Amino acid sequence: MPGVRTRRANGGGAQPIVVLGMGHVGLPTALGLAELGWTVFGADDAADKIERLKAGEATFYEPAMQELLTKHLASGRFHPTKDVDAAIASSKVVFVCVGTPQRDDGAADLSQIEAVARTIARNLDGYKLVVEKSTVPASTAERIKRTIERYARMRSSLTGKNGRAHRNGRHQTKQPVPRFDVASNPEFLQEGKAIHDFFHPDRVVIGVESEVARELLEEIYQPLKCPIVVTDLATAELIKHSANAFLSTKISFINMISDLCEAVGADVESVARGLGLDPRIGPQFLKAGIGFGGYCFPKDLRALIHLGEEHGVPCGILRSVEEVNLRRVDVFLEKLRHALWVMRGKTIAVLGLAFKPLTDDIREAPALRVIEELIKEGASVRLYDPEAMPSAQQVFPESTGQVEYCRSAYEASRGAHALVLVTEWEEFRNLNWKKVREAMEVPVVVDGRNLLDPVEMDEAGFEYSSMGRGTRQAASALERAGKP
Ligand code: UGA
Repeated sequence: MPGVRTRRANGGGAQPIVVLGMGHVGLPTALGLAELGWTVFGADDAADKIERLKAGEATFYEPAMQELLTKHLASGRFHPTKDVDAAIASSKVVFVCVGTPQRDDGAADLSQIEAVARTIARNLDGYKLVVEKSTVPASTAERIKRTIERYARMRSSLTGKNGRAHRNGRHQTKQPVPRFDVASNPEFLQEGKAIHDFFHPDRVVIGVESEVARELLEEIYQPLKCPIVVTDLATAELIKHSANAFLSTKISFINMISDLCEAVGADVESVARGLGLDPRIGPQFLKAGIGFGGYCFPKDLRALIHLGEEHGVPCGILRSVEEVNLRRVDVFLEKLRHALWVMRGKTIAVLGLAFKPLTDDIREAPALRVIEELIKEGASVRLYDPEAMPSAQQVFPESTGQVEYCRSAYEASRGAHALVLVTEWEEFRNLNWKKVREAMEVPVVVDGRNLLDPVEMDEAGFEYSSMGRGTRQAASALERAGKP
């Protein structure tokens, strides 16, 4: 990667690193470490995933990832493996990147983390640094430590000097548990920019309890030339959850303001600009629209609320953030209902299925709720997304009769009574909208991401609405009426 000087030549004497979990965090991290010069095992017990990686096929869409995968399979620095035990046994640093899904009560489900701790204990044959990268509630690293200790101790008391187990035997010899450290090193990778973010982090946070752990992690991250924030374990864990909660709060805040803009005829984009130029506020994550989705913000917000409740700390702010977000799809659909009056029997073109552009990830994507509602209300949907259609087909199969997948935005708009824009893919901005209008039965467009220009859409003959852009709509109406 440009600007990054690698420190470890392959085979330069350092022990390999193992990354456990080849998902949206693990795979970019493993490839990033390989690019920095480390020999990396990418371990996952999902055999199909490993087979595809070994065959050189990226298992999900992420810009620049395919190239890095091809490069480091060839360089011999990236080794996908389903032999998790062997990979841990031969590595000194173990990055834990397994999933932390959500339980029914909103708390993080840490069963995969616990299973990993037991596997590490089973393979603890010398010093290891266990680095928690998955997003977890504060105190998880402490629990990982206790779990490894407990299982490693049990194992050592069952294992004789020759390494064989003597469960009931008189020859039982207690072996000391090898030293290990647990560190917290939260990831701040954004899907769609994960590879870029790995090499250009704003900061690296490391929660450590020993100098050895600190030195090992600093050695890994120093080539990235960014501030390294060193803390204790719980603080590092909380930094990650707070970062996601704060960014979600910004989005819900601007979405609330967006509704107010509509109520009073103001323009949310100008409000966001006016706000964001204050360096204390900043311009990012102030894009109003259909709300946030994905595998991180919604679930991390709930996990943090749950953590607060567990500790008796009221988290009302975060509850409001979630409530505002849940209402976004309703606000959006209300615009469509307003335009169409009756939904039953209508054909709606849906542009964008992924929870944001540059990914094929549809987890908690606003598009899912939009499509569910449209189907429930008796409409048919014609769907198009540049990357996420295979994932969406698992959730909404065509066999239901109300769903059709299309090869382009133009095909999706054919015969549609309305078009809804749910993900702001760049290709949608650059569509030939005249051609889209000619294909549609009725030229209604509801833009959930404020991607398109209201004036241009009016000029192109659309009945266009978007989120919180009151005065711009009014301005274009005035222009149409020939007023100043
Ligand atoms: C988020 C964080 O941005 C990363 O720093 C973090 O590492 C990651 O979660 C994680 O915890 O793993 P990600 O979920 O990939 O990254 O996506 P974002 O770019 O943060 O967007 C999240 C959602 O917010 C998307 O649905 C996006 O459309 C929405 N969003 C974002 C807005 O509605 N408005 C905005 O101004 C920005």
